[in-house]
Amino acid sequence: MPTLDVHGTALHYRDEGHGPPVLLFHAFPLHSGAFDAQVKALASRYRFLLPDVRGLGQGAPPSGPTEMAHIAQDALALLDALGLDSVVVGGVSMGGYASMALLREDPSRVRGLVLVDTQAGADDEAGRARREASAEQALREGPEAVVRAMLPRLVAAGPDSEVGREVAALMRAATPEGLAAAQRGMALRPDSKDILARYAGPALVVVGEQDGITPVEKARQMAELVTGAHLEIIPGAAHLPNQEQPEAFNAVLERFLSRL
Ligand code: MLT
Repeated sequence: MPTLDVHGTALHYRDEGHGPPVLLFHAFPLHSGAFDAQVKALASRYRFLLPDVRGLGQGAPPSGPTEMAHIAQDALALLDALGLDSVVVGGVSMGGYASMALLREDPSRVRGLVLVDTQAGADDEAGRARREASAEQALREGPEAVVRAMLPRLVAAGPDSEVGREVAALMRAATPEGLAAAQRGMALRPDSKDILARYAGPALVVVGEQDGITPVEKARQMAELVTGAHLEIIPGAAHLPNQEQPEAFNAVLERFLSRL
């Protein structure tokens, strides 16, 4: 996996395929391996840039909360290093928060926006308290506690399905510090409705029909905020449609990318 030095911190990322560049941020608490099915199906036509968030996957250890703006700034440094002016930017759940943070940092770098099972709003007080409790539990007990708490809600087919086991393996690559830092970073994210309302480029919003974490109403709200955004609901999927229903997801993604 290539590495880029960003202000003294190593950013690990995958750079796969050939064609128009597509930067995708993974969900919490996974890593860039979450996009294997997209790389396999589409890398002959698109170039996928897939960073690992600090403390997750091979991401460098975090120092303080992993704020969404930091993830976005790391990715912008990567685009600079690769000489890419603008790319399609997207992500799943936390990766969607990071995409909106990148849009806030520099909309001129966003050729198209792909928001998957995510939401535009910030956390309320109860949500922030839940994240802090989860961060402390992760520090005490490690990734297994997060797997137990989250996995049943991530995939419609359940934790014992093939995709459930794949997702659990991705989660187990996280460090306790990385899990806590990402939870604390997500708790700090601002509301991004203003950013979406100002964005004037092409946008695709995707959601798993059975997502109980960021349900269809949240996706609809984002699609309504962005002028001309297209909403796609993936049947048979919960929070991770790119992994749960890769064929349906890839078809929707490719239709969007091919029209840009
Ligand atoms: C994710 O899948 O990235 C998380 O569920 C996002 C969140 O906790 O808000």
